[in-house]
Amino acid sequence: MSLIAGGQARRRQILLWNDWSLMKKTLLALSLALIAAAPAAAQAAEPLAIGHRGASGTRPEHTFASYDRAIELGADYIEQDLQLTKDGVLVVMHDTTLNRTARGAAENCTGAVDSKTLAQIKTCSAGSWFDPAYADEKIPTLEEVFQRYGKSVNYYIETKAPEQADHMEERLLAMLDQYGLREPAVSEWQVLIQSFSADSLKKIHAIDPRLPLIQLGDSTDAHLPAIAQYAVGSGPAYGGVDAAYVSAAHALCVDVHPYTVNDTAAMQRLLDAGVDGMFTNYVDRLNGLLGDRNAPGRQGALDAKAAHDACMARFAQGPIGGTVGSQLSLTLGAPASFGAFTPGLALDYVATTTATTTSTAADTALTVSDPSATATGHLVNGAFALAQPLQVRAQSARGTSGAYGPLGAPILTYAGPVSGDVATVSFRQPIAADEGLRSGSYDKQLTFSLSTTTP
Ligand code: G3P
Ligand code: CA
Repeated sequence: MSLIAGGQARRRQILLWNDWSLMKKTLLALSLALIAAAPAAAQAAEPLAIGHRGASGTRPEHTFASYDRAIELGADYIEQDLQLTKDGVLVVMHDTTLNRTARGAAENCTGAVDSKTLAQIKTCSAGSWFDPAYADEKIPTLEEVFQRYGKSVNYYIETKAPEQADHMEERLLAMLDQYGLREPAVSEWQVLIQSFSADSLKKIHAIDPRLPLIQLGDSTDAHLPAIAQYAVGSGPAYGGVDAAYVSAAHALCVDVHPYTVNDTAAMQRLLDAGVDGMFTNYVDRLNGLLGDRNAPGRQGALDAKAAHDACMARFAQGPIGGTVGSQLSLTLGAPASFGAFTPGLALDYVATTTATTTSTAADTALTVSDPSATATGHLVNGAFALAQPLQVRAQSARGTSGAYGPLGAPILTYAGPVSGDVATVSFRQPIAADEGLRSGSYDKQLTFSLSTTTP
Protein backbone atom coordinates (compact mmCIF):
# COMPACT_ATOMS: atom_id res chain seq x y z
CA MET A 1 0.00 0.00 0.00
CA SER A 2 1.34 3.38 -0.88
CA LEU A 3 0.57 6.36 1.27
CA ILE A 4 0.79 9.57 -0.65
CA ALA A 5 0.39 13.20 0.26
CA GLY A 6 0.32 15.89 -2.37
CA GLY A 7 0.77 13.82 -5.51
CA GLN A 8 -0.28 10.82 -7.53
CA ALA A 9 2.82 9.94 -9.56
CA ARG A 10 4.29 7.38 -7.23
CA ARG A 11 1.08 5.77 -6.10
CA ARG A 12 1.44 2.04 -6.09
CA GLN A 13 -0.16 -0.81 -4.30
CA ILE A 14 1.32 -3.97 -2.92
CA LEU A 15 -0.89 -6.90 -2.20
CA LEU A 16 0.59 -9.65 -0.14
CA TRP A 17 -0.88 -13.05 0.22
CA ASN A 18 0.35 -15.05 3.12
CA ASP A 19 -0.43 -18.67 2.44
CA TRP A 20 0.45 -21.67 4.46
CA SER A 21 0.17 -25.39 4.01
CA LEU A 22 -2.15 -27.00 6.41
CA MET A 23 -0.87 -30.02 8.27
CA LYS A 24 -4.10 -31.62 7.38
CA LYS A 25 -7.17 -30.59 5.60
CA THR A 26 -10.08 -30.54 7.94
CA LEU A 27 -13.49 -31.32 6.68
CA LEU A 28 -16.02 -30.52 9.27
CA ALA A 29 -19.61 -31.30 8.65
CA LEU A 30 -21.78 -28.95 10.60
CA SER A 31 -25.36 -29.68 11.39
CA LEU A 32 -26.86 -26.59 12.85
CA ALA A 33 -30.34 -25.30 13.02
CA LEU A 34 -30.81 -22.57 10.47
CA ILE A 35 -32.06 -19.39 12.01
CA ALA A 36 -33.61 -17.02 9.58
CA ALA A 37 -32.96 -13.34 10.10
CA ALA A 38 -35.95 -11.90 11.91
CA PRO A 39 -35.50 -8.17 12.33
CA ALA A 40 -37.67 -6.25 14.68
CA ALA A 41 -40.95 -4.96 13.39
CA ALA A 42 -40.37 -1.89 15.52
CA GLN A 43 -37.58 -0.48 17.67
CA ALA A 44 -38.30 -0.82 21.37
CA ALA A 45 -36.99 2.43 22.87
CA GLU A 46 -39.06 5.49 23.64
CA PRO A 47 -38.98 8.24 21.00
CA LEU A 48 -36.14 10.74 21.35
CA ALA A 49 -36.75 14.46 21.69
CA ILE A 50 -33.98 16.18 19.74
CA GLY A 51 -33.62 19.87 20.52
CA HIS A 52 -33.27 21.33 17.02
CA ARG A 53 -30.59 24.03 17.29
CA GLY A 54 -31.43 23.85 21.00
CA ALA A 55 -34.81 25.30 21.95
CA SER A 56 -34.84 27.46 18.85
CA GLY A 57 -38.57 28.10 18.93
CA THR A 58 -38.14 30.37 21.94
CA ARG A 59 -34.40 31.13 22.06
CA PRO A 60 -31.88 32.25 19.43
CA GLU A 61 -30.66 29.09 17.71
CA HIS A 62 -27.29 27.56 18.51
CA THR A 63 -26.60 29.71 21.55
CA PHE A 64 -26.02 28.64 25.11
CA ALA A 65 -29.38 30.21 25.97
CA SER A 66 -30.99 27.89 23.43
CA TYR A 67 -29.16 24.78 24.58
CA ASP A 68 -29.74 25.54 28.28
CA ARG A 69 -33.45 25.88 27.63
CA ALA A 70 -33.66 22.68 25.58
CA ILE A 71 -32.01 20.79 28.41
CA GLU A 72 -34.41 22.37 30.93
CA LEU A 73 -37.30 21.18 28.77
CA GLY A 74 -36.05 17.60 28.80
CA ALA A 75 -34.34 17.27 25.43
CA ASP A 76 -32.70 13.88 24.96
CA TYR A 77 -30.23 15.46 22.55
CA ILE A 78 -29.13 19.00 21.76
CA GLU A 79 -28.25 19.59 18.12
CA GLN A 80 -25.14 21.31 16.74
CA ASP A 81 -24.65 22.36 13.12
CA LEU A 82 -20.95 22.80 12.35
CA GLN A 83 -19.18 25.46 10.31
CA LEU A 84 -15.43 26.05 10.02
CA THR A 85 -13.81 29.46 10.50
CA LYS A 86 -11.04 30.84 8.30
CA ASP A 87 -8.50 29.86 10.94
CA GLY A 88 -9.77 26.30 11.24
CA VAL A 89 -12.03 26.39 14.30
CA LEU A 90 -15.30 24.47 14.41
CA VAL A 91 -18.12 26.77 15.41
CA VAL A 92 -21.78 26.02 15.92
CA MET A 93 -23.93 27.76 13.34
CA HIS A 94 -26.53 26.61 10.84
CA ASP A 95 -25.88 28.84 7.85
CA THR A 96 -22.66 29.02 5.85
CA THR A 97 -22.92 32.80 6.13
CA LEU A 98 -23.27 35.04 9.15
CA ASN A 99 -25.91 37.24 7.61
CA ARG A 100 -29.07 35.80 9.13
CA THR A 101 -28.10 35.12 12.73
CA ALA A 102 -25.12 37.36 13.51
CA ARG A 103 -25.11 41.07 14.22
CA GLY A 104 -22.19 43.46 14.59
CA ALA A 105 -19.62 45.19 12.45
CA ALA A 106 -20.23 44.25 8.83
CA GLU A 107 -16.60 43.30 8.21
CA ASN A 108 -16.81 40.74 11.00
CA CYS A 109 -20.46 39.68 11.06
CA THR A 110 -21.59 39.40 7.43
CA GLY A 111 -20.41 37.08 4.69
CA ALA A 112 -19.15 33.52 4.74
CA VAL A 113 -18.19 31.98 8.07
CA ASP A 114 -15.10 30.48 6.47
CA SER A 115 -13.92 33.94 5.42
CA LYS A 116 -13.72 35.14 9.06
CA THR A 117 -11.36 34.28 11.87
CA LEU A 118 -12.71 33.12 15.19
CA ALA A 119 -11.65 36.45 16.70
CA GLN A 120 -13.80 38.28 14.16
CA ILE A 121 -16.78 36.00 14.73
CA LYS A 122 -16.52 36.40 18.48
CA THR A 123 -17.23 40.12 18.10
CA CYS A 124 -20.73 39.32 16.80
CA SER A 125 -23.95 38.90 18.72
CA ALA A 126 -25.71 35.61 18.02
CA GLY A 127 -28.88 36.66 19.82
CA SER A 128 -29.84 40.23 19.01
CA TRP A 129 -31.36 39.28 15.65
CA PHE A 130 -33.85 37.17 17.62
CA ASP A 131 -34.51 39.43 20.60
CA PRO A 132 -32.48 42.26 22.15
CA ALA A 133 -32.70 40.38 25.45
CA TYR A 134 -30.18 37.91 24.02
CA ALA A 135 -27.73 40.46 22.63
CA ASP A 136 -24.90 39.10 24.77
CA GLU A 137 -25.09 35.61 23.28
CA LYS A 138 -22.03 34.67 21.22
CA ILE A 139 -21.51 32.09 18.50
CA PRO A 140 -20.12 29.10 20.41
CA THR A 141 -17.23 26.97 19.28
CA LEU A 142 -17.84 23.24 19.44
CA GLU A 143 -15.14 23.09 22.09
CA GLU A 144 -17.00 25.62 24.22
CA VAL A 145 -20.15 23.52 23.93
CA PHE A 146 -18.25 20.46 25.16
CA GLN A 147 -16.64 22.51 27.93
CA ARG A 148 -20.02 23.80 29.10
CA TYR A 149 -22.02 20.57 29.06
CA GLY A 150 -19.32 17.89 29.23
CA LYS A 151 -20.79 14.43 29.53
CA SER A 152 -24.03 15.56 31.12
CA VAL A 153 -25.97 15.72 27.85
CA ASN A 154 -26.22 13.96 24.50
CA TYR A 155 -25.03 15.72 21.34
CA TYR A 156 -26.47 15.40 17.83
CA ILE A 157 -23.82 16.95 15.60
CA GLU A 158 -24.15 17.75 11.89
CA THR A 159 -21.29 18.22 9.46
CA LYS A 160 -22.59 21.18 7.44
CA ALA A 161 -21.26 21.79 3.92
CA PRO A 162 -18.37 19.42 4.70
CA GLU A 163 -17.14 19.42 1.12
CA GLN A 164 -16.17 23.08 1.59
CA ALA A 165 -14.58 22.64 5.01
CA ASP A 166 -11.00 21.44 5.31
CA HIS A 167 -10.90 18.18 7.28
CA MET A 168 -14.15 18.93 9.09
CA GLU A 169 -14.65 15.28 9.94
CA GLU A 170 -11.14 14.77 11.32
CA ARG A 171 -11.42 17.95 13.36
CA LEU A 172 -14.74 16.77 14.80
CA LEU A 173 -13.35 13.39 15.77
CA ALA A 174 -10.26 15.02 17.27
CA MET A 175 -12.53 17.20 19.39
CA LEU A 176 -14.53 14.18 20.50
CA ASP A 177 -11.27 12.52 21.50
CA GLN A 178 -10.08 15.62 23.34
CA TYR A 179 -13.21 15.69 25.48
CA GLY A 180 -13.46 11.94 25.95
CA LEU A 181 -16.64 11.64 23.95
CA ARG A 182 -15.70 9.18 21.22
CA GLU A 183 -16.08 6.05 23.32
CA PRO A 184 -19.38 7.23 24.91
CA ALA A 185 -20.56 7.95 21.38
CA VAL A 186 -19.82 4.37 20.41
CA SER A 187 -21.02 2.60 23.51
CA GLU A 188 -23.84 4.87 24.70
CA TRP A 189 -24.81 6.93 21.68
CA GLN A 190 -23.92 10.04 23.67
CA VAL A 191 -23.01 11.59 20.34
CA LEU A 192 -24.86 10.98 17.10
CA ILE A 193 -23.26 12.38 13.95
CA GLN A 194 -25.58 13.48 11.16
CA SER A 195 -25.11 14.84 7.66
CA PHE A 196 -26.88 15.37 4.37
CA SER A 197 -23.56 14.37 2.81
CA ALA A 198 -23.23 10.61 2.39
CA ASP A 199 -19.56 11.18 1.52
CA SER A 200 -19.00 12.90 4.85
CA LEU A 201 -20.64 10.07 6.79
CA LYS A 202 -18.78 7.42 4.80
CA LYS A 203 -15.53 9.23 5.54
CA ILE A 204 -16.30 9.09 9.25
CA HIS A 205 -17.37 5.46 8.93
CA ALA A 206 -14.06 4.66 7.26
CA ILE A 207 -12.16 6.31 10.09
CA ASP A 208 -14.18 4.67 12.84
CA PRO A 209 -16.94 2.28 11.77
CA ARG A 210 -18.22 2.04 15.33
CA LEU A 211 -19.54 5.60 15.45
CA PRO A 212 -23.34 5.98 15.20
CA LEU A 213 -24.24 8.00 12.10
CA ILE A 214 -27.52 9.42 10.81
CA GLN A 215 -28.08 10.01 7.09
CA LEU A 216 -30.21 13.10 6.59
CA GLY A 217 -32.48 13.96 3.73
CA ASP A 218 -33.95 10.85 2.25
CA SER A 219 -37.40 9.42 2.88
CA THR A 220 -37.60 6.81 0.13
CA ASP A 221 -37.44 3.11 0.91
CA ALA A 222 -35.08 2.45 -1.99
CA HIS A 223 -32.17 4.19 -0.29
CA LEU A 224 -32.47 2.38 3.03
CA PRO A 225 -30.27 -0.64 2.19
CA ALA A 226 -27.45 1.70 1.19
CA ILE A 227 -27.91 3.83 4.32
CA ALA A 228 -27.86 0.72 6.50
CA GLN A 229 -24.31 -0.02 5.33
CA TYR A 230 -22.83 2.88 7.27
CA ALA A 231 -25.55 4.55 9.36
CA VAL A 232 -27.70 3.58 12.31
CA GLY A 233 -30.47 5.96 11.37
CA SER A 234 -32.21 8.07 8.80
CA GLY A 235 -33.20 11.70 9.29
CA PRO A 236 -35.68 12.61 6.56
CA ALA A 237 -37.86 15.68 6.20
CA TYR A 238 -40.95 14.70 8.14
CA GLY A 239 -43.50 15.27 5.41
CA GLY A 240 -42.45 12.13 3.55
CA VAL A 241 -42.40 9.85 6.58
CA ASP A 242 -45.21 7.36 7.11
CA ALA A 243 -45.67 3.99 8.80
CA ALA A 244 -44.56 2.11 5.68
CA TYR A 245 -41.27 4.00 5.58
CA VAL A 246 -40.66 3.45 9.29
CA SER A 247 -41.40 -0.25 8.91
CA ALA A 248 -39.02 -0.57 5.95
CA ALA A 249 -36.32 1.21 7.94
CA HIS A 250 -36.83 -0.92 11.02
CA ALA A 251 -36.61 -4.07 8.92
CA LEU A 252 -32.99 -3.00 8.32
CA CYS A 253 -32.42 -1.82 11.91
CA VAL A 254 -32.35 1.79 10.72
CA ASP A 255 -33.80 4.25 13.24
CA VAL A 256 -35.95 7.10 11.93
CA HIS A 257 -35.54 10.69 13.23
CA PRO A 258 -37.53 13.11 11.04
CA TYR A 259 -36.90 16.87 11.03
CA THR A 260 -38.12 19.50 11.92
CA VAL A 261 -41.46 18.88 13.60
CA ASN A 262 -43.02 21.77 15.49
CA ASP A 263 -46.72 21.12 15.09
CA THR A 264 -48.27 18.77 17.66
CA ALA A 265 -50.62 17.14 15.13
CA ALA A 266 -47.64 16.26 12.94
CA MET A 267 -45.76 15.03 16.01
CA GLN A 268 -48.60 12.70 16.93
CA ARG A 269 -48.91 11.40 13.36
CA LEU A 270 -45.21 10.54 13.35
CA LEU A 271 -45.35 8.93 16.79
CA ASP A 272 -48.24 6.81 15.55
CA ALA A 273 -46.14 5.86 12.52
CA GLY A 274 -43.50 4.52 14.92
CA VAL A 275 -40.61 6.95 14.53
CA ASP A 276 -37.71 6.64 16.97
CA GLY A 277 -37.47 10.35 17.68
CA MET A 278 -37.68 13.67 15.95
CA PHE A 279 -36.02 17.06 15.69
CA THR A 280 -38.13 19.84 17.08
CA ASN A 281 -37.75 23.50 18.01
CA TYR A 282 -40.25 22.82 20.81
CA VAL A 283 -39.08 19.92 22.93
CA ASP A 284 -41.77 20.69 25.50
CA ARG A 285 -44.52 20.08 22.96
CA LEU A 286 -43.14 16.66 22.06
CA ASN A 287 -42.53 15.65 25.65
CA GLY A 288 -46.07 16.78 26.46
CA LEU A 289 -47.37 14.29 23.92
CA LEU A 290 -45.05 11.54 25.09
CA GLY A 291 -46.10 11.77 28.73
CA ASP A 292 -44.97 8.60 30.44
CA ARG A 293 -43.13 7.56 27.29
CA ASN A 294 -40.64 10.36 27.80
CA ALA A 295 -37.21 9.06 28.83
CA PRO A 296 -35.23 12.28 29.25
CA GLY A 297 -31.52 12.76 29.09
CA ARG A 298 -28.88 10.08 28.95
CA GLN A 299 -31.32 7.22 29.47
CA GLY A 300 -33.06 7.97 26.19
CA ALA A 301 -29.82 7.49 24.27
CA LEU A 302 -28.94 4.34 26.20
CA ASP A 303 -32.34 2.83 25.45
CA ALA A 304 -32.08 3.73 21.77
CA LYS A 305 -28.65 2.14 21.54
CA ALA A 306 -29.85 -1.01 23.32
CA ALA A 307 -32.84 -1.33 20.99
CA HIS A 308 -30.63 -0.92 17.96
CA ASP A 309 -28.19 -3.53 19.25
CA ALA A 310 -31.03 -5.97 19.88
CA CYS A 311 -32.24 -5.49 16.32
CA MET A 312 -28.76 -6.03 14.92
CA ALA A 313 -28.30 -9.16 17.03
CA ARG A 314 -31.23 -10.72 15.22
CA PHE A 315 -29.47 -10.10 11.93
CA ALA A 316 -26.32 -11.66 13.32
CA GLN A 317 -28.06 -15.01 13.59
CA GLY A 318 -27.57 -15.88 9.94
CA PRO A 319 -27.64 -19.37 8.45
CA ILE A 320 -24.45 -21.47 8.52
CA GLY A 321 -23.61 -24.99 7.45
CA GLY A 322 -21.59 -27.18 5.11
CA THR A 323 -17.91 -28.11 5.00
CA VAL A 324 -14.86 -26.00 5.66
CA GLY A 325 -11.68 -26.00 3.59
CA SER A 326 -8.52 -24.06 4.36
CA GLN A 327 -7.88 -20.47 3.47
CA LEU A 328 -5.93 -17.45 4.60
CA SER A 329 -6.29 -14.44 2.36
CA LEU A 330 -5.97 -10.69 2.49
CA THR A 331 -7.34 -8.15 0.03
CA LEU A 332 -6.53 -4.47 0.21
CA GLY A 333 -8.75 -1.55 -0.74
CA ALA A 334 -7.83 1.55 -2.66
CA PRO A 335 -4.53 3.28 -1.80
CA ALA A 336 -4.75 5.61 1.17
CA SER A 337 -4.02 9.28 0.61
CA PHE A 338 -3.84 12.15 3.10
CA GLY A 339 -4.41 14.75 0.42
CA ALA A 340 -2.44 17.96 0.73
CA PHE A 341 -0.48 18.76 3.91
CA THR A 342 -0.87 22.41 4.86
CA PRO A 343 2.29 24.14 6.13
CA GLY A 344 1.76 26.12 9.32
CA LEU A 345 -1.22 24.08 10.48
CA ALA A 346 -0.88 21.65 13.38
CA LEU A 347 -3.13 18.74 12.51
CA ASP A 348 -3.37 14.99 12.74
CA TYR A 349 -4.06 13.95 9.16
CA VAL A 350 -5.99 10.72 8.71
CA ALA A 351 -6.18 8.46 5.67
CA THR A 352 -7.88 5.11 5.37
CA THR A 353 -8.07 1.99 3.31
CA THR A 354 -9.62 -1.40 3.88
CA ALA A 355 -8.21 -4.85 4.52
CA THR A 356 -10.56 -7.77 3.95
CA THR A 357 -9.58 -10.93 5.76
CA THR A 358 -10.70 -14.48 5.31
CA SER A 359 -9.08 -17.04 7.58
CA THR A 360 -9.94 -20.55 8.64
CA ALA A 361 -7.18 -20.51 11.26
CA ALA A 362 -7.90 -20.57 14.97
CA ASP A 363 -6.18 -17.22 15.36
CA THR A 364 -5.07 -14.59 12.89
CA ALA A 365 -3.20 -11.31 13.20
CA LEU A 366 -2.98 -8.43 10.73
CA THR A 367 0.24 -6.39 10.71
CA VAL A 368 1.34 -3.39 8.67
CA SER A 369 5.09 -2.86 8.53
CA ASP A 370 7.64 -0.70 6.76
CA PRO A 371 10.20 -2.84 4.89
CA SER A 372 12.53 0.07 4.09
CA ALA A 373 15.82 0.43 5.93
CA THR A 374 15.92 4.22 5.90
CA ALA A 375 13.59 6.54 7.79
CA THR A 376 11.75 3.44 8.86
CA GLY A 377 8.19 4.25 9.84
CA HIS A 378 8.30 7.80 8.47
CA LEU A 379 6.85 9.16 5.22
CA VAL A 380 9.64 10.43 2.95
CA ASN A 381 9.95 12.93 0.16
CA GLY A 382 13.33 12.30 -1.44
CA ALA A 383 15.94 13.04 1.21
CA PHE A 384 13.36 14.57 3.55
CA ALA A 385 11.33 12.65 6.09
CA LEU A 386 8.42 13.80 8.22
CA ALA A 387 9.40 14.44 11.82
CA GLN A 388 6.81 12.22 13.43
CA PRO A 389 6.32 8.55 12.57
CA LEU A 390 3.28 7.25 10.81
CA GLN A 391 0.71 5.67 13.12
CA VAL A 392 -1.72 2.92 12.22
CA ARG A 393 -4.69 1.07 13.59
CA ALA A 394 -7.44 -1.18 12.24
CA GLN A 395 -11.03 -1.62 13.28
CA SER A 396 -13.64 -4.10 12.22
CA ALA A 397 -16.83 -5.64 13.46
CA ARG A 398 -15.21 -8.97 14.25
CA GLY A 399 -11.56 -8.26 15.02
CA THR A 400 -10.00 -7.05 18.23
CA SER A 401 -8.19 -3.77 17.75
CA GLY A 402 -6.19 -1.27 19.73
CA ALA A 403 -5.36 2.42 19.64
CA TYR A 404 -3.10 4.08 17.09
CA GLY A 405 0.44 2.77 17.34
CA PRO A 406 3.67 2.48 15.37
CA LEU A 407 4.07 0.28 12.32
CA GLY A 408 5.24 -3.30 12.79
CA ALA A 409 3.00 -4.54 15.58
CA PRO A 410 -0.25 -6.49 15.10
CA ILE A 411 -3.12 -4.05 14.68
CA LEU A 412 -6.03 -6.46 14.46
CA THR A 413 -6.43 -9.96 15.83
CA TYR A 414 -9.08 -12.57 15.34
CA ALA A 415 -9.65 -15.16 18.04
CA GLY A 416 -11.30 -17.53 15.59
CA PRO A 417 -12.06 -18.11 11.94
CA VAL A 418 -13.33 -15.15 9.98
CA SER A 419 -14.71 -14.72 6.51
CA GLY A 420 -14.68 -11.54 4.48
CA ASP A 421 -14.24 -9.30 7.50
CA VAL A 422 -13.73 -5.79 6.20
CA ALA A 423 -11.43 -3.84 8.50
CA THR A 424 -10.92 -0.13 8.20
CA VAL A 425 -7.18 0.52 8.34
CA SER A 426 -6.54 4.08 9.43
CA PHE A 427 -3.25 5.89 9.16
CA ARG A 428 -2.61 8.97 11.25
CA GLN A 429 0.15 11.45 10.47
CA PRO A 430 0.71 14.23 13.01
CA ILE A 431 2.20 17.40 11.54
CA ALA A 432 3.33 20.25 13.79
CA ALA A 433 2.63 23.87 12.91
CA ASP A 434 6.35 24.63 12.77
CA GLU A 435 7.35 21.59 10.72
CA GLY A 436 9.14 22.38 7.46
CA LEU A 437 7.38 20.66 4.58
CA ARG A 438 9.24 20.06 1.28
CA SER A 439 7.08 20.44 -1.84
CA GLY A 440 6.29 17.21 -3.65
CA SER A 441 5.00 13.85 -2.47
CA TYR A 442 5.61 12.23 0.87
CA ASP A 443 4.96 8.54 0.61
CA LYS A 444 5.86 5.07 1.75
CA GLN A 445 5.34 1.54 0.55
CA LEU A 446 4.05 -0.64 3.33
CA THR A 447 3.68 -4.37 3.73
CA PHE A 448 0.39 -5.84 4.95
CA SER A 449 0.55 -9.39 6.24
CA LEU A 450 -1.60 -11.99 7.91
CA SER A 451 -0.10 -14.50 10.30
CA THR A 452 -1.30 -17.28 12.55
CA THR A 453 0.15 -19.45 15.28
CA THR A 454 -2.51 -22.14 14.99
CA PRO A 455 -3.28 -22.97 11.37
O1 G3P B 1 -30.25 18.06 11.11
C1 G3P B 1 -31.63 17.90 11.05
C2 G3P B 1 -32.16 19.16 10.52
O2 G3P B 1 -31.65 20.15 11.33
C3 G3P B 1 -31.71 19.32 9.11
O3 G3P B 1 -32.05 20.55 8.65
O4 G3P B 1 -31.29 22.67 7.75
O5 G3P B 1 -32.11 22.52 10.10
O6 G3P B 1 -29.93 21.58 9.50
P1 G3P B 1 -31.31 21.90 9.03
CA1 CA C 1 -29.20 20.39 11.43
